[in-house]
Amino acid sequence: MTAQIIDGRLIAAQIRDSLKQQISALPRAPKLAIILAGNDYSSLIYVRNKQKAAAQIGLETQLFHLEETTSESDLLQLIDQCNADSQINGIIVQLPLPEHLNTHRIINRILPQKDVDGFHPYNTGMLQNNEKPYFIAATPLGIMTLVKSVCPILSGKNVVIIGASLIVGRPLATLMLNQECTVTITHIHTQNIKELTRKADILVAACGVAELVKRDWLKPGAILIDVGINRQNDKICGDIDFDDVLSTASAITPVPGGVGPMTIAMLLKNTLDAYFLQNKPL
Ligand code: GUN
Repeated sequence: MTAQIIDGRLIAAQIRDSLKQQISALPRAPKLAIILAGNDYSSLIYVRNKQKAAAQIGLETQLFHLEETTSESDLLQLIDQCNADSQINGIIVQLPLPEHLNTHRIINRILPQKDVDGFHPYNTGMLQNNEKPYFIAATPLGIMTLVKSVCPILSGKNVVIIGASLIVGRPLATLMLNQECTVTITHIHTQNIKELTRKADILVAACGVAELVKRDWLKPGAILIDVGINRQNDKICGDIDFDDVLSTASAITPVPGGVGPMTIAMLLKNTLDAYFLQNKPL
């Protein structure tokens, strides 16, 4: 067996094309405010990629690039200003924030109706309750689309997620549960992790450890989703050892070209949805 490669670049390009068409019919461009504090190397690249992708489909972005030493009150004030600005449809605060800032207090200040990252407790709570949030986090949304492209019916599947983050693990677990999967989240304190991952029909690695997952972690035929973006010997690699697992898995997302492009496409989709939410006909 050689695993099918799930082409995130292609699926993301199709989504962006559809968004571009919808945006071209609007009276004005939807607008995303991006708040970045400091100069974290990866964050600078992610933000640049988001801005570039937005511009290509006619979506406007406004970057607020603050000093590493910016105070929490200044950041909260900026969020209040973006919340009140009717031209701004979506707001994201790029994570991680500098250590002196309280991430939850800052995220919680964003209006849930503009929280296109889907991190506000209103949105995460609605998702937990299996109700409709305004927005769902972009990476988990993208992962659901990728998984469904190779496995349309998820009911009853065993899903194991490595990593319990706010950005990926937790919302993804909820989305999978809402699709009637049996979900296990593992994390740094999990014991005998391989015993759990070997039961997975769908295994998602989102732990940020280069090539952690090997062939002997897998149930043969598993679908593998690799969220990791790690730099190793000047090469980008994921959390899954791609070459090692290729003959054991049934499908796998590559790094780069898998989950990454989907995250951006879903953020753009959420921003267009925010525009529609705020410009509903009376
Ligand atoms: N840092 C890494 N991924 C993300 C994301 O999806 N949104 C934000 N705001 N920060 C991130």
